[in-house]
Amino acid sequence: MLSYRHIYHAGNHADILKHIVVSEICHHLTQKDSPFFYLDTHAGIGQYALDSEQAQKNKEFHSGISQLLELPNPPTAIVRLLDIVKTMNDSLDNKNNVQWYPGSPKVVDAYLRNKDKMYLCELHPNDYPILADLFHRDRQVTVEKRNGFQAVKALLPPPQKRGLILMDPPYEVKQDYDTVVQTLVEGHRRFAQGIYAIWFPILSRQQADNLANSVQQTRICNVLLLELSIRDDDAQGGMNGSGMIVVNPPWTLKQNAEEFLPVLTAHLADKNSNEAHFQIRWITPE
Ligand SMILES: C[S@@+](CC[C@H](N)C(=O)[O-])C[C@H]1O[C@@H](n2cnc3c(N)ncnc32)[C@H](O)[C@@H]1O
Repeated sequence: MLSYRHIYHAGNHADILKHIVVSEICHHLTQKDSPFFYLDTHAGIGQYALDSEQAQKNKEFHSGISQLLELPNPPTAIVRLLDIVKTMNDSLDNKNNVQWYPGSPKVVDAYLRNKDKMYLCELHPNDYPILADLFHRDRQVTVEKRNGFQAVKALLPPPQKRGLILMDPPYEVKQDYDTVVQTLVEGHRRFAQGIYAIWFPILSRQQADNLANSVQQTRICNVLLLELSIRDDDAQGGMNGSGMIVVNPPWTLKQNAEEFLPVLTAHLADKNSNEAHFQIRWITPE
């Protein structure tokens, strides 16, 4: 089943959390000279036109990226994502209208040096050619129409010996919750020192806790959980928030999250709710 199209959701609160975390990890990886490898198991189309008919349908970016452009003194992690967005939009008009919003491949591309490698998987028959076209001149970037979960088994460990694996499935099928954990275990067995980032939606407290508990049961150490809820976790009718599970996080990530998550919670909260909140905790210690 491949009915999910990310463009309808581009730039929303969940993208903001995910892309700040990805950006912070890449910032950390580029602090060392040695090259890194990036695997995006579910890459989407790479960048999103927010003036497209699809993005305009629900205008989810209005309560996401649009809110951040107004912030007077954002924390550094938010500034780093905003800088990427600003670079993609030659000039923002005086109402800060963003035309282009980066997907995870474009966030990472902003950090990629000549020696680094990026490997992108996208299965959707319409989305794959758009992504392949976006990076067709980039020799450091490989774009494949393949199952991203299987790519983890096939490509790890990478020759670079350091890197980030982002798993961002659409969870259209419930099976994705199990597959993402099984794939983490298989990836970690092959490449224990890699950084793994798993995005997940918060549809209810129980469903989000079940995923964190499954990761805890793998006994993989050094796993950080970051969550941003824009309303009560158990509110009816849609995605109430999202989270990132990060294995082997950069030592700076928790400290940075303590700065950026309160700001995101205050500014991306559902205006009809006063139940927005965040969570930062170790699923398993180092
Ligand atoms: C949430 S979107 C990805 C968004 C992207 N990571 C970003 O942050 O910009 C999930 C994508 O995975 C694709 N997809 C679904 N199942 C897949 C699979 N097994 N392997 C690779 N791509 C898949 C979907 O077509 C969709 O474009």
